Amino acid sequence: MEIRKARLSDLPDIIEMEHICFGEDSFNRRQFIYLMTKANGFFYSVQNGESIVAYISLIHNRRAQSVRIYSIAVHPDFRHLKIGQQLIDKTLEYADLCKAKKITLEVKVSNAPAICLYKKNGFETTYIVTNYYHDGSSAYRMQKCPIHPPGII
Ligand SMILES: CC(C)(COP(=O)(O)OP(=O)(O)OC[C@H]1O[C@@H](n2cnc3c(N)ncnc32)[C@H](O)[C@@H]1OP(=O)(O)O)[C@@H](O)C(=O)NCCC(=O)NCCS
Repeated sequence: MEIRKARLSDLPDIIEMEHICFGEDSFNRRQFIYLMTKANGFFYSVQNGESIVAYISLIHNRRAQSVRIYSIAVHPDFRHLKIGQQLIDKTLEYADLCKAKKITLEVKVSNAPAICLYKKNGFETTYIVTNYYHDGSSAYRMQKCPIHPPGII
């Protein structure tokens, strides 16, 4: 399994995975092309053989000195293999490179697996955003800050 910069040729697998994971809240092809080619950030794909089995899209906001996890997904057949954790590790590396002071994200309040992953990595809920998703459900806004605990450089 290889974690690498996303390529446009990854799109069919990513879009299929996106629909399986997020249904009506999925990003479309145009949005993914923007995230991969124009957005100020980084888009990682996880390749297994010929297939893409996970991805993460990160956005760097220079003014806010923050990195946002815009989207992360692991194909259902490849979960519980620490791929999500490796993508969070890549996020920490990227945030470090950007000298970001915090990492932010939104997660559906009912999404226990993702919330566990984030909490395990030191993210904390800052507030609830109501009516965030297509079905009217709310999101937790979470953040990790500082990136490194005091004393660790
Ligand atoms: C959330 C997601 C990315 C986790 O990916 P994964 O590769 O299966 O996770 P990992 O194997 O790296 O697990 C790392 C940690 O995440 C947490 N976790 C993962 N799956 C979990 C589950 N089903 N229930 C509870 N905690 C879970 C655990 O803390 C786990 O650590 P542990 O195994 O030591 O307990 C994956 O479930 C996914 O793609 N979900 C659908 C898309 C999604 O919801 N994205 C997040 C949008 S905000």
